[in-house]
Amino acid sequence: MLNTIFKADANNPSIKLNEPPHILMLHKNKRPEPNIRCSVINRPRMPQNHDHKTETRLRSDPKVLVFVETIYSKVGRDIAELLVYNRIKYKVEVFGKSLPVLTNLDKGRYGIIVFEDFNAYLQMDKWNRDLLDKYCREYMVSVIGFINPSEETLVGAQLKGFPLFIHTNLRLKDATLNAASQILRLTRPGETVWGPLPGDDWTIFQLNHSTYEPLEWAHRNEEYHPGMIKTPLTTVVEDHGLYDNIQRVIFGSGLKFWLHRLLFLDSLSYLSHGQLSLSLERLILVDIDDIFVGEVGMRLKPSDVKELIAVQSRIQSMVPGFKFNLGFSGKYFHHGDSEEDKGDDLLLENTDKFMWFSHMWNHIQPHLYENLTLLTEDMMLNKNFAKEKGIPIDSGYSVSPHHSGVYPVHELLYTAWKKVWNIRVTSTEEYPHLRPARLRRGFIHRDIMVLPRQTCGLFTHTMLIERYPGGRDKLDESIQGGELFQTIVYNPINIFMTHMSNYGNDRLALYTFESVIKFLQCWTNIKLRTVPPLQLAETYFKNYPDEVDPVWGNPCGDTRHKKIWSNNKSCDSLPSFLVIGPQKTGTTALYTFLSLHPAITSNIPSRETFEEIQFFNGNNYYKGLDWYMSFFPVESNSTSIYFEKSATYFDGDLVPKRVHALLPSAKLVTILISPAKRAYSWYQHTKAHGDLIANNYSFHQVITASDTAPKPLRDLRNRCLNPGKYSQHLERWLSYFPPQQLHIINGDVLKSNPIEVMDEIQKFLKIAPAFNYTTHLRFDPNKGFFCQIINGDKTKCLGKNKGRQYPPMEERSLKLLQRYYLSHNTALVKLLKRIGIRNIPEWLKDDLSDTPT
Ligand code: A3P
Repeated sequence: MLNTIFKADANNPSIKLNEPPHILMLHKNKRPEPNIRCSVINRPRMPQNHDHKTETRLRSDPKVLVFVETIYSKVGRDIAELLVYNRIKYKVEVFGKSLPVLTNLDKGRYGIIVFEDFNAYLQMDKWNRDLLDKYCREYMVSVIGFINPSEETLVGAQLKGFPLFIHTNLRLKDATLNAASQILRLTRPGETVWGPLPGDDWTIFQLNHSTYEPLEWAHRNEEYHPGMIKTPLTTVVEDHGLYDNIQRVIFGSGLKFWLHRLLFLDSLSYLSHGQLSLSLERLILVDIDDIFVGEVGMRLKPSDVKELIAVQSRIQSMVPGFKFNLGFSGKYFHHGDSEEDKGDDLLLENTDKFMWFSHMWNHIQPHLYENLTLLTEDMMLNKNFAKEKGIPIDSGYSVSPHHSGVYPVHELLYTAWKKVWNIRVTSTEEYPHLRPARLRRGFIHRDIMVLPRQTCGLFTHTMLIERYPGGRDKLDESIQGGELFQTIVYNPINIFMTHMSNYGNDRLALYTFESVIKFLQCWTNIKLRTVPPLQLAETYFKNYPDEVDPVWGNPCGDTRHKKIWSNNKSCDSLPSFLVIGPQKTGTTALYTFLSLHPAITSNIPSRETFEEIQFFNGNNYYKGLDWYMSFFPVESNSTSIYFEKSATYFDGDLVPKRVHALLPSAKLVTILISPAKRAYSWYQHTKAHGDLIANNYSFHQVITASDTAPKPLRDLRNRCLNPGKYSQHLERWLSYFPPQQLHIINGDVLKSNPIEVMDEIQKFLKIAPAFNYTTHLRFDPNKGFFCQIINGDKTKCLGKNKGRQYPPMEERSLKLLQRYYLSHNTALVKLLKRIGIRNIPEWLKDDLSDTPT
């Protein structure tokens, strides 16, 4: 049976099996030298130049649908991680009885369908399979599948419905690519990955139809013996769609093998007709931090500096513009022995050969400074040192020791950087978190562009190859298709941080970067380039404009962040709960009543927006976390919890995401009243504040303004009506927060029986002992509302702009609004039931039952 399969593959183009292994040789000498022999390096690049774009008018979105067995399955997770890393949009669907919706009006929702288990696709019931195949044909959508390991070993088994046969559970070695394949784009063919391939459960394909073309071959991982056929075995196959009009790529193993990750990306690109093609351009910047910081014996000698320059020029021939970017702390200049001091001098004699950036003068972490003068003085020392030594001072780039002050932001650092160095760019591994690396992002704060930094695996203490965790094999693994190689493949813009110590002793950084660049040249069509940091940052934010806005996380949720956060700052300066609005539902009354509670403290008032901070919406957010926390000063011995109320949070698009990032366990309180009445109250409020449009147009005119009406009127209409689409806004909050963290108050009850409302909110906040509001609130007949009891018999009510006197809403406006909000109110009832609220508010029932048909 086996032989049948081998013979079936005999038509494959012949592969030179006796080419020498190009993998790095193990070096006997102390300092490793790159030894990547790659016969294709000098060949013309991209022999077939597939940009994968077709003339086809595509009717599907460039989004990937991934079918998985369970959300925990290994291949499925590998696929999702790879897609995330490469910022490719996708949806994961657990394979079940029914298919997800595949079309949206006349457009396909997905451009590629991936099955982590190809067998699940084959075994689909006829109805679903017909539906999926129809979708694929109609919208020119293709399938990628992985053959999962099977318990029983199959020999020459036919794949259901296809002229394709498989043999499973094999151990293989020596993978080669089919250089003629149209799929290859990012991946460069021609070499062989010598040695055993990962895993012992490979599947190979026997191709019995012209629709199939091998994409990758390998060999059995066993000694050849006389008479044994050496024919290569197909391990990844392309189905051109000649058999059933659907194109596919099928992998005989998962993504454990690094080459499959590249082939998967290329398959996505090819099968999506270029829609999912990644750029082949990569920018790379290698920082050498602390170029003068190091103990005697660890520092650079003249021979190291010469080698640094020599390797740099070799890399320049592969990476246009490549220059190491040297970071200096002047205080430690000439702190070595006499030979090492000569090394420092040689660096300065060659300043023009490198790029330079300033570090802290004395390498102290900036978050330890609480005084701007001291911090700027320190930076000035380094600047004066640079001027004295002829080091360029205009790069606009700097980094901070241990990422301190960059993120979480220490505002003093940003101020001092601007003032002394006019810094425009920095980089960190910490935003939003160190791990997972694939989620690192950039942001801009106070006009300083913060770029994500990648990790190359070399740290200050990695001076000798023996010190590299796992030794040379691990380092070579990372270079040859492993973590470092993949980091560069997946990140269009790479900044690596290395240290002076990585360039002395075993010069591991020189070895690492020269080798990985050679390996990239060997196996990919990626074009590497180096540009100065400012240009790098501008390119980054041009490519990823969505990242300009920061999302402030909670420093206490990350132990690394806490270590680089000022001791004077504390998460006690953050609120435990938020009253999120919407406007005109009684939020001021609730705020006032909550402030009476001895165990609850509101923020200190803002000079601009009074009791509301309005941080998470609008421009205040850019003032940063320190600004927000200044509204919640920590008082010693206080056990009280903080809250804030900003009524515009409710309907702000970005607010739930931002609140969740900073206050993931915060409780949220919202008040709802009839959206029609809310709109009317808002109009009266806006009018009373002298708004010209509100004063020139009646309420009815505002709410009936058409889309061709003047813009200011349309804007007013939207601001009046949009917050009342409660279900829509609540859904957004609930996509970030569990319902247990949300408390919904009926605004009518807040008016008629605030004591009951306050009792409930105390239960929700788990505040014990409960505060007795009966002795603090009383109905005031003059005001027509509940007010605070003062001095035993008097009351203090909210100002005249709360609980205003105005004529009742016209009946026609009410009817119109009830109709307008009908679908939203219906959705609200469903939402309330879904989250376990059984008592539907009377106003909601009334709005729904009074709605004219
Ligand atoms: P009106 O002024 O239209 O009556 P907000 O504080 O969110 O802007 O809401 C103002 C609304 O709170 C007022 O709208 C009023 O109806 C309501 N409200 C509820 N309890 C109140 C109270 N005890 N005193 C004053 N207004 C109260």
